[in-house]
Amino acid sequence: MKLRSVDYNSVRGKYVLLRVDFNVQIENGKILDTFRIEQTMPTINKLREHGARVVLCAHLGRPKGMANPELSLRPVADYMKVPFVDDCLKRDFLAGMQDGDIVLMENVRFYSGEEENNLEFAKKLATGFDLFVNDAFAVSHRAAASLVGVTEFLPSYAGELLVHEVENISRVLENPKHPFLAIVGGAKVSGKIGVLKTLCKLADTVIVGGALGTTFNYACGANPGNSLYEPDMADTARDIMKFAHDNNCELLMPLDKGVGPEFKQTAQRANKSIDEIADSDVIIDDGPKTAERNIAEIDKAVTVVWNGTFGMAEWGDVWGESSFKIAREIATRTVAGKLTSVIGGGETVAAIDAIGVRDDMTYVSTGGGAFLEFIEKGTLPAIEVLAI
Ligand code: 3PG
Repeated sequence: MKLRSVDYNSVRGKYVLLRVDFNVQIENGKILDTFRIEQTMPTINKLREHGARVVLCAHLGRPKGMANPELSLRPVADYMKVPFVDDCLKRDFLAGMQDGDIVLMENVRFYSGEEENNLEFAKKLATGFDLFVNDAFAVSHRAAASLVGVTEFLPSYAGELLVHEVENISRVLENPKHPFLAIVGGAKVSGKIGVLKTLCKLADTVIVGGALGTTFNYACGANPGNSLYEPDMADTARDIMKFAHDNNCELLMPLDKGVGPEFKQTAQRANKSIDEIADSDVIIDDGPKTAERNIAEIDKAVTVVWNGTFGMAEWGDVWGESSFKIAREIATRTVAGKLTSVIGGGETVAAIDAIGVRDDMTYVSTGGGAFLEFIEKGTLPAIEVLAI
């Protein structure tokens, strides 16, 4: 897919509405992970260097169309050391901007028109600007006013990050080198049915793990114990297994699990094979035999796509063991030039960060839901409108 990209030589003195995804975790005014902000800097810097007057538009959380001071983007403006405009429909500040200046506007989701993709709201948002640039890949699966509606009122282009994301993810979708291994973890089958089916068509092997893997084990008759899983997704899991088989894809599920007496970070870990799990066991991680099997699959592959962790990686080494083991293997093989690795999803990126291997991967997406939907469909609503 080719996107309309910015002609930087023509932006001097122009007012640019730049949509970014700054939906970051903030605690007590401190940004916990600046990855999404850093990844947008190439577009911001390039526009400013070429004399554009850059106005950043972003969302934070899900305020449901109402102003909510707890979801203000002011901490992001403070972190970036840029002026802040406390209402995304204010325009009086534009007159005072010089070439190369930048401001960040308040959370666009404080208006209900945003998520409704209301065209009147989109028109107001576009007012005062010469062009629109979308660099917000991570929210481009939402057909919102600041992503889709606004393109009806302004000449619209893709920013550096958006182009980069589409190119890198498309690389493994359009022309993947084989053997191609997809690894899908996380909590729920229900949110990943489409992406699992697409990956079953594209990949030679799909590994399912985590709570999602527990649902697959349950669908094959295993006892899930007292764990998180989706009993009503058993038929869907069996349907995906059949779909994988019909598409010549090997679908591998957990062989053993790390269990505790309760769902707690401090719980004592025991490893049990799938057929040993008792009614009272709480599954918190995939087990060591599964991790070894997964490592062997990674070693056979030349392309790996990974989304979703296998256990509570955010609880540290004990319950993150199986996720960290595969993260290390993917990183080592990628650095050795034996693997193209594409990783996406907030928890997955947090897991690779926890062991410091983000820079070792071929490509790490800023998208979570957007990453999955792009893999599933090969496009997204806010990208579609920028395609040429
Ligand atoms: C994300 O964090 O994945 C994006 O910003 C989208 O957020 P949303 O799921 O609230 O639309």
